[in-house]
Amino acid sequence: AQTDKELLYKIHEIANDFYQNQLFKTEEGKSIGLSYFKERELRNDTIEKFQLGYSPENKHAFTDFAIDKAYKKEILEKSGLSIFPENAPKGIDRFRGRVLFPIHSFSGRVLGFGGRILNNNLKTAKYLNSPETDIYHKSDVLYGLNQSKQAISKYNLCLLVEGYMDVVSLHQNGIENVVASSGTALSINQIKLIKRLTENVTILFDGDAAGIKASFRSIDLLLSQGMNIRVLLFPDGEDPDSFARKNPQDFVRNFIEKEAKDFIDFKAEVLLKEAIADPVKKAEAIRDIVKSVAFVQNALKQEVYLKEVAKKFEISEQTLFNELGIQKQIKQ
Ligand code: UTP
Ligand code: MN
Ligand code: MN
Ligand code: MN
Ligand code: MN
Repeated sequence: AQTDKELLYKIHEIANDFYQNQLFKTEEGKSIGLSYFKERELRNDTIEKFQLGYSPENKHAFTDFAIDKAYKKEILEKSGLSIFPENAPKGIDRFRGRVLFPIHSFSGRVLGFGGRILNNNLKTAKYLNSPETDIYHKSDVLYGLNQSKQAISKYNLCLLVEGYMDVVSLHQNGIENVVASSGTALSINQIKLIKRLTENVTILFDGDAAGIKASFRSIDLLLSQGMNIRVLLFPDGEDPDSFARKNPQDFVRNFIEKEAKDFIDFKAEVLLKEAIADPVKKAEAIRDIVKSVAFVQNALKQEVYLKEVAKKFEISEQTLFNELGIQKQIKQ
């Protein structure tokens, strides 16, 4: 007999085919889903590469389809693709009236979906994601890794973005070494997946408050795993998707190469934007940066970074080494 896990992989494969078929072969899919992707300037080859799909508005579309194929209520419920509320014992589809981004494992199996609403004015969440299941653990998966792994190895660099569309759009623009943590804070297991391919990460997050906060957290986590990092925030209101659509490939590549900063320069810029002259703010910023240096794993690298801080802020190395010691003790 098939194990539950095998059945869950199988039902996701079937769902993935179903949703792609809906997108390309049905009137509703074409007029709503496909035209949404066209508005966002995605080409068909890109849509096919990422196996994007459409879930119809009919509440029962996929659930009925799967039941017809002899899938049982129990497995449909476990997959997260159908829900069975008390007032609808026949079951309803989790994803309705959304465009879908299948989430693949490293080796290319579909584990779950992210689904985007088609208009921005609703009260419901913009993206609905599959729940945790026996095959989908969101902190163990990176969106786009399956499609990007070869380019990440080839360039010995992984670009880290926030969203599904950022990954898809950069690929369409010829930049294929990119993954997203998608709907979750970056995790240690996700970093370990990247580390199998490269130790170099460039963080490309949105330039809003959420993006800045996420980048600070990600910097320390990446450093703690021995990664080399650079950081680039897009201007507020932009993200890698909007930027990649406006600019040619070479420009985007050069922009990332030129504008991404090491974490010291990045944190200094964010923390000291207007407060350069305020000694209290300056001391707090230096302490915050040394806190990140304390996460650097290699002693030689750590000393090099600390010397950079000393030079940048004209603080004696001795004082910074003392502060580093304090920060390391706090961490223990
Ligand atoms: P953003 O809010 O930056 O969305 O969230 P986006 O990717 O730019 O979306 P578009 O361009 O409007 O389509 C970044 C990522 O956070 C997750 C999604 O993975 C999204 O791509 N997210 C966001 C959710 O899981 N749920 C949400 O409600 C919003
Ligand atoms: Mn954002
Ligand atoms: Mn976006
Ligand atoms: Mn965004
Ligand atoms: Mn520097």
